[in-house]
Amino acid sequence: MRLSGLRSTLQDRRTPVPPSAPSTVPSSAPSSVPRQARVPAPGHPSAAPAASASDPLTPQQIALLRASVAAVSPQAGELTVYFYAILFARYPAVRELFPVDLDVQRDRLLRGLLRIVDLVDDPDNLVRFCTHLGRDHRKFGALSGHYPAVGECLLASLERYAGPAWTPELAQIWTTAYGLVAQVMSKAAEDDALLGPAVWYAEITRHVHRGHGIAEITVQPETPYPYLAGQYASMETPWAPRAWRYYSPAHAPRPDGSLTFHVRAVHGGQVSPALVEQAAAGDMVRLGPAQGGMTLDPDSGRPLVCVAGGTGLAPIRALVEHAARTGSERQTNVFVGARTAMQLYGLDDMLRMSQRHHWLSVRAAVSDERIAGLEGTLPQVLAEFGPWYRHEAYLSGPVDMVTQAAYTLLRQGVPQQRIHHDPFDVPALEAALLPRRMAAHLAAG
Ligand SMILES: Cc1cc2nc3c(=O)[nH]c(=O)nc-3n(C[C@H](O)[C@H](O)[C@H](O)COP(=O)(O)OP(=O)(O)OC[C@H]3O[C@@H](n4cnc5c(N)ncnc54)[C@H](O)[C@@H]3O)c2cc1C
Ligand code: HEM
Repeated sequence: MRLSGLRSTLQDRRTPVPPSAPSTVPSSAPSSVPRQARVPAPGHPSAAPAASASDPLTPQQIALLRASVAAVSPQAGELTVYFYAILFARYPAVRELFPVDLDVQRDRLLRGLLRIVDLVDDPDNLVRFCTHLGRDHRKFGALSGHYPAVGECLLASLERYAGPAWTPELAQIWTTAYGLVAQVMSKAAEDDALLGPAVWYAEITRHVHRGHGIAEITVQPETPYPYLAGQYASMETPWAPRAWRYYSPAHAPRPDGSLTFHVRAVHGGQVSPALVEQAAAGDMVRLGPAQGGMTLDPDSGRPLVCVAGGTGLAPIRALVEHAARTGSERQTNVFVGARTAMQLYGLDDMLRMSQRHHWLSVRAAVSDERIAGLEGTLPQVLAEFGPWYRHEAYLSGPVDMVTQAAYTLLRQGVPQQRIHHDPFDVPALEAALLPRRMAAHLAAG
C-alpha cells in the first residue's frame, strides 16, 4: 500500500510541527532535573528539516527509503553513537531527557526509526505504532519542539553513513516520512495529556526480600494509577534517573490503590539490583502509564491455561486474582516453572489460592532437578497435561520458555490469537504489533 493511504489517515490527526523549538518548555523530567528544560534555540545554524507531509511517498520512494536503511545498517552502531553525539552537542538541553548511561538502550530510538521504515507501507499499523510511541514519550519529557532537533540529527547521521547514496531526493523522502511520524507522535501526546498525567509519583511503602535475588516491592501512588490485571508498568527509580524499566503488578487493582511488584535483580543491571538491594520504605519512584494486552476478555468463557516462569508469575497471579474477584469460575490451569525446586518462586501462594478456588489448579515444573512429579521443563509438562485447544493461553517469563510453550500450544491446536504474552523486547517496539511479531518469532524459531 502506498503512503498516500497513510496520508489520508493522518490528515485529520495532523498538528503543525513548529519550524523551530521554543526556548523554554515545561518538562516532566524527574525531580532532580529542573522543571524548565531548555530546548534548541530558534535559528540554530543547522535548521531542522521542514516536516512537510504534503507529498505522499510512492512505491519507488519507499524502495529508496528502505535501500538507504539497508546501506547504513552494517554501521548501525556507529550511526547511533554519532546521532547521539551530534544531538547532545547541538542541543545540550536534550541530554537531560536521556539516562546517564545510554549503553544498554542506546539503540532503542534507532530501532524505533527502523520499525517505522518497516511499516511505511502498512499505514494502519504505522499510525498505531506512532500513536502508542508518542503517548509513551510523555514520560520521557519529549515535547513537540524536540522533534525537529531529533529529525535534523537523524538526517545528518544518515547522510554521513549513507555516503554517495545520499541524494537531495533521498533527503526529501526522509524529511517527509519523519515529518509524518513526528506529527502523529506529537498529536498522540497532546491528546493523551488531556486524559491523564505523564507519570505517577509513588512511595515505596514495603520492601520484602523473597530470596534468590527477588524482592516484593509495594508502592503507593500519590494519585490513582489505572491499570488492568495482567498489564505492566514502567518504572523510574532514584538510583538510575531516566532509565525506565517494566514491572508487572502481581495482583488485580486494589481498593487502596497500592501496587506490589516482584523484582528479580539482574546481575550488572542498572535498575533491578538497586530495587532489590537498596530500595527501602520511604523511597520515591515514578511510574509510566500501564501497558500490555495480556488481560482477560470478560466476554470469553473459555477455560484458561497459564504458564509462568520466574517473576513472570506476577501478571499470571494478577489474572487469577481478577478471575476470582469477578466470580467467573473459568477452569484455570496454572503451570509454574523454575530450574530448581528452591527457585520455585511464589508457588506456595498459588497453591493456597488453589485451595480456596475449586476452579483453579496449580502445577509446578522443575527442569534441572530430578524430582518425582515435578520433573521437566514447562513446555514438556504443559504438553503432558494437554490438550489445550479449547483454552485461552497466557504465557509469562523468559523468552525461550514463552516461545517453547507457544509452540507446544500451537501444535495442540490453540490458535495464535488465543495465545497471549508480554512483549519479548522493548514494549514500545512490539506492543501494537504483537500478533505479527509472535508470528515472526515463531517462524524464525
Ligand atoms: C513487559 C515486561 C515486563 C517485565 N516485568 C518484570 C517483572 O515483573 N519483574 C522483573 O523482575 N522484571 C520484569 N521485567 C524485566 C525488567 O523490565 C528489566 O529488564 C530487568 O529488571 C533488568 O533491568 P536492569 O536495569 O536491572 O538491567 P539492564 O541495565 O537493563 O541490563 C543489564 C544487562 O543485563 C541483561 N538483562 C536484562 N534483563 C535480563 C534478564 N531478565 N535476564 C538476563 N539478563 C538480562 C541486559 O541485556 C544487559 O546486558 C519485565 C520486562 C518486560 C519487557
Ligand atoms: C520519530 C521520532 C522518534 C522515534 C521513532 C523514537 C523512538 C523511541 C523508542 C522506540 C524508544 C524506546 C522506548 C522504550 O524504551 O519504551 C525511545 C526512547 C526515548 N526517546 Fe524517542 N523517539 C523519537 C523521538 C524522540 C524525541 C523527539 C525525543 C526528545 C528528545 C525522544 C526522547 C526519547 C527518550 C528520552 C527516550 C528514553 C531513553 C532511551 O531509552 O534511550 N524521542 N524513542
